[in-house]
Amino acid sequence: MRLDRPVVFGNWKMNGLRAEGLALAGTLAERAVRLTGTLGIFPPFTLIHAVAQRVKETAILVGGQDCHERASGAYTGCVSAPMLADSGAKAVILGHSERRHGLGESDALVRAKLRAARAAGLLVVLCIGETEAEYLAGARSARLAAQIDGSLPEGIGPEGLVVAYEPVWAIGTGRTPTAEEIRATHREIRAMLAKRIVGGDSVPLLYGGSVKPENAAEIMALGDVDGVLVGGASLDARSFWSIYQAGGGA
Ligand code: 13P
Repeated sequence: MRLDRPVVFGNWKMNGLRAEGLALAGTLAERAVRLTGTLGIFPPFTLIHAVAQRVKETAILVGGQDCHERASGAYTGCVSAPMLADSGAKAVILGHSERRHGLGESDALVRAKLRAARAAGLLVVLCIGETEAEYLAGARSARLAAQIDGSLPEGIGPEGLVVAYEPVWAIGTGRTPTAEEIRATHREIRAMLAKRIVGGDSVPLLYGGSVKPENAAEIMALGDVDGVLVGGASLDARSFWSIYQAGGGA
């Protein structure tokens, strides 16, 4: 799957009933028949099928926000990677901080999920990011290196992989690292990926955490930033589209 820049993904999190989700997808679909970049939306499981149907004439990518590490079985309430693919998803977000920190997911579990998602042919958006305490203690690089090392299966290639740097303290807070910090951190992540994966320097890198129409252009102009992963601002079609345009997308 070719991901042209800018890569702008919207994580709807646990938001969206059928009417509003389809309205949002419909508004985006009207603008996105042809795209110069890559636009993706990640609705809750309940809307994946309907949203995928709604945008099927467009280049918009639809994905899930998580998957189980097994393909099927006695796992009440869980959704597997083949199920996501079967409902129309082409991608999945894994290792989001709301699952790592909110639900206690370990690097080892994220790695198992990543393997399952790739086996099902899904593009994986792997999220990594330090907590505020780690940031203040100067432990950011160590945390990111550990997450990259622990979350990526041995022998994985760069195809079908996107990495999103989302500082935990920037998610939903209105606070972001400085442009210089984002640039330097992305450069570091690029180098870590190049060391860990053959061809790893070609993996698209997204920044996530309080991305808004107002700061999107500055962030996406930075070297080693290929796009953004947007939470709150992706729930409004106009904001999400202006973020996409701010990155040069049309
Ligand atoms: P916000 O854009 O709401 O800060 O969320 C970012 C995020 O978690 C995207 O995955």
